[in-house]
Parts: sequence; structure tokens; C-alpha cells
Amino acid sequence: EQVRVQEYLDFAISLAKEAGAIIKAAVDSRMAGTGSNIELKKENPTDLVTETDKAVEEFIKERLSRTYPEHKFIGEETFASGAKTEFTHEPTWIVDPIDGTTNFIHGYPFVAVSIGLTINKVPTVGVVFNPLLNELYSAAQGKGAYLNQTQRLPLFNPPQPLVDLSHCLIATEAGSDRSKLVIDAKIAAIHDMLQKKSEANPFAAEAHSVRTTGSAALNLCNVAKGIIDVYWEVGCWEWDVAAAIVIVAESGGLVLAGGNDKSDNEPVNIFCRKYLAIRAARDRESQVEIANQMKDLIPTIE
Ligand code: IPD
Repeated sequence: EQVRVQEYLDFAISLAKEAGAIIKAAVDSRMAGTGSNIELKKENPTDLVTETDKAVEEFIKERLSRTYPEHKFIGEETFASGAKTEFTHEPTWIVDPIDGTTNFIHGYPFVAVSIGLTINKVPTVGVVFNPLLNELYSAAQGKGAYLNQTQRLPLFNPPQPLVDLSHCLIATEAGSDRSKLVIDAKIAAIHDMLQKKSEANPFAAEAHSVRTTGSAALNLCNVAKGIIDVYWEVGCWEWDVAAAIVIVAESGGLVLAGGNDKSDNEPVNIFCRKYLAIRAARDRESQVEIANQMKDLIPTIE
């Protein structure tokens, strides 16, 4: 399978472009007043699904099963409609038809289709395409990460040094779990990211600032670009991150489990639903140092 990686990457890129065109047409026609209204499909008001999410996933799934009938498929909407997730050593496409569905509904242009491929359970190919900003991120294991197939990531060459969390721009997200437990813990972490250090709070970082794009995949791509230093999120799913994890890794960044275990600096398990990504730097020590500073302020959310 490894020898076919370039073929899989090329296929994923063309599929992402076609899927992106469907997403862009839906936004354009709604903005022009010619599209049908958004029809929300789920009960949970903070975890939105539209007709377009479903149509795009059906399109991708059908193309994949026609081209690679022996490959496995995990998709956000397929899961939502009750399919059991089976993760094997077989080549497995992991797809989010629209990452940033809330943005899609509001017309906020951080919306992406995310297509990842694991082989032997290892994230091997990743393509994330934002059709509203026309930015396509792609990577395959050992082949580097690119923006629009030509610009090597990270954009900074050589990467900027990573000095201290106080110099970092940090991305995080509200996420869809709005329980008091989760929101209190996330707000406490954001408070510590922003607050000045004090005797009372020695782990406060006074970071440069905090950003949210509303798309886990695009937050990771911003880490791969080198324009976000650190991204931490709890609660997103394998389809939000499977593709972009390859893109971050190929840019020289790290993606770790987003808990507070400092001994766990192994490549992340894509199913762990907590992620901590650190952008490329000139040495791994400074990346691990920033990860450890973040882990001092990450709350325990089980
Ligand atoms: C969501 C986005 C969001 C993240 C949520 C995800 P969706 O994905 O990535 O940034 O905070 O956890 O579920 O629902 O738009 O595909």
C-alpha cells in the first residue's frame, strides 16, 4: 500500500476540490438568496448538521467506494446515522464533509472538507480544503506538507524559534459539549493562558492571545503553516483531525494527546478526542517545553 501513497494523495486532492465546489456553491447560493434555507438535522443546538454535510459525505463516500471498493470508511455523518466505527489495519478513509458547520451556517469563511487516510492504523495521507478562502492543505507521510500544492509548510523558513508560552498565539475552541463541567474547565484554561503570572497563579502564561476559527482541521492547518503556535482542544472527533494530523506532522509540528500527562509525547491516537498541537520549531526540545507549559494549565476533563 505504501507505494500507492502518491496515488491516494492525488485522488484525495481531486476529491476535496470537487467536494469543496459543492460547499462553495451552497454558500454562494444562500448569499445570493437563491439557495434553500439551512435545514438543521440534529437535536443538539451546538452540534449542527445540514443537508449539505450529508450530501457532501454521500458524494465522497460513493466516489471512494467506486474507486477503492476494498478500502474502509469512517465519516461524521455515517457515524451520526448509527454506523459502528471499525478501525482496522486496512486502508481507512476518515472524512469530515464540512468541518466548521457552524461557520458554514453563518457564512464565516473557516469551513473545510477534511479527507484523511490511515494505513496500518497510521495517519498517512491528509487533505483539508477551505473552498471559501481557496486554501488547500495536503500532505502524505514522508512527502512534506503543502499549501495549494506549491508552498511548502511551514510558511516561515526556517521556522521561528519557540521561546516561551508567553510569546505564543494559542488556538482553542468552545466545542459542542456545553456542560458546566466542560465549559468551566475550558474557561479556566483560557483564563490561565491569558492571565499574568502571579504568586497565586505561577502557571498563568500571559500568552500573546487566544484565537478560535471554529474548525479543528483549520486550526491544525494554521499550526502547520506556523501562524498559530499551539492548538489545544478537548471534545472533537477523529474525522476533525485525521487529515490535518498528517499535515502538522509533515510540517515538522507535533500533535500530542491533549491531557496533562507530561510523559506522553508519543504520536497521538487519533481517537483520543483531546489534542495538543505545537508548530514546527528549530529543535524538538523547545516544542516539548511549550507542550509541558501548556500541560501545566490544561484541566483534567474525562
Ligand atoms: C467541529 C469543529 C469545531 C470543534 C468541534 C467540532 P464540525 O466540527 O471542528 O471547531 O470545536 O469540536 O465538532 O461539527 O463542524 O464538523
